[in-house]
Amino acid sequence: MLDIESRSGKKVFIETYGCQMNLADSELMGGVLAGTGYGSAKTLDEADVILINTCAVRERAEDRIFGRLTDLLRYKNANPDLVLGIAGCMAQHLREKIIDQAPYVDIVVGPDSYRNLPAMIDKATGEAADPVLDLKLDKAEVYEGLTPKRRPGISGWVSVQRGCDKFCTFCIVPFVRGRERGVAPSEVVRQVREMAEQGYKEVTLLGQTVNSYRHQLPGEPETDFADLLSMLVPIDGIERIRFTSPYPTDFTPKLIETIAREDKISKYLHLPAQSGSARMLEMMRRQYTRDEYDKLIDDIRTAIPDIALSTDIMVGSPGETDEDFIQTVELMEKTRFDFAYLFKYSERSNTYAARNMPDDVSEQEKGDRLRHIIELQESISAEVFKQEIGRTRRVLVDGVSRRDENDLAGRSDQFKRTIFPKPADREVKPGDIVDVRITDCTSHTLIGEYVESK
Ligand code: SAH
Ligand code: F3S
Repeated sequence: MLDIESRSGKKVFIETYGCQMNLADSELMGGVLAGTGYGSAKTLDEADVILINTCAVRERAEDRIFGRLTDLLRYKNANPDLVLGIAGCMAQHLREKIIDQAPYVDIVVGPDSYRNLPAMIDKATGEAADPVLDLKLDKAEVYEGLTPKRRPGISGWVSVQRGCDKFCTFCIVPFVRGRERGVAPSEVVRQVREMAEQGYKEVTLLGQTVNSYRHQLPGEPETDFADLLSMLVPIDGIERIRFTSPYPTDFTPKLIETIAREDKISKYLHLPAQSGSARMLEMMRRQYTRDEYDKLIDDIRTAIPDIALSTDIMVGSPGETDEDFIQTVELMEKTRFDFAYLFKYSERSNTYAARNMPDDVSEQEKGDRLRHIIELQESISAEVFKQEIGRTRRVLVDGVSRRDENDLAGRSDQFKRTIFPKPADREVKPGDIVDVRITDCTSHTLIGEYVESK
């Protein structure tokens, strides 16, 4: 085993693919390694260790990572001591294929084994001929007590839940991330307080179905997700709390009331629908019907009229007919999401769908359907953005505009990118929350002017 002394001076470069949970996990790995003496490499060239944190949710993500591994062979050739590691969901999903196609990989580490990274790197630095593997899923691991090495800034992530228990028929996440578990509220509060002390203004709580969060210690009452939010609201310095992704069936009236009541909780929700067809929702085992989804949207909009909504939609799932697809189009036209993340179905080995449902929508049809809804959403988003003109929104400033450094940039409470000229008579800086009256927009950005808060 190497000690901290002999690791010091060594530098790690972590490259991240996939979702925000992966970005947060990369910060966690950075924290684990910093705690044992590693520094951060600014470029791949100066790295002693390169870790690729991977995504397995669609085949394309995995193909990209295989391509990337081929690129990275060059660094291995230039520096035979370099340790190259594959981490995360694809490591868990495709260990054999990785070892087969990229035998020069030194480490393959799954999402529940990041505490072991320093020891794994030590082992790989020695004369290990075979890759060092750790892919045990651990239903108790929530990385309590570890502090992620967060990128400095205004906004940071806290994982409050790991794994997923829903087993939607198309989805690989429960297989590669294991069972759902919540992080103790005391640990979440500790991390958010620490972030406030370090100057973060916004925290985003992460979980695959974050609002199904629950945690209970023996002899104590259970903490649910609404309780957890209420515990974070009083933390001074944190001005805005966001979370992603909630699951439609885990919304309680108490949670909706909490979001409506608390100014600090962002008025933006991501509500993955997947499809507008009741039949497809059932085949996907989403646990809600189309009517229940519509009712949830109505309930949320009634309680929080200012809410912005986004969704995930998948087209071309096994068995999806034109009629099913029309229902999805109808859902999007009716709901008018502010944003939408749109995907083509991609078969994932091990899932229920891969084992039981033929991938029977042609690639051509999947492509046509996807293009259709991308265009539809572009036009809806453009209209939704236009409707912001004339309104005054609270904007958390996070920097200056890329186009003009005399303009400040940030996000509104509804998560819309907003830019406005620096006011002449008042200093406004990143981290401030200010009122901005929206005067114009482009298709993805609001343009406004600073107004004195009432
Ligand atoms: N609970 C998570 C889901 C993670 S996967 C969340 O809501 O963020 C993110 C999205 O990827 C899903 O909502 C779904 O739209 C899409 N997705 C999941 N599995 C997929 C697959 N096999 N093919 C294509 N898209 C998929
Ligand atoms: Fe995947 Fe469904 Fe969980 S989409 S992450 S199995 S909620």
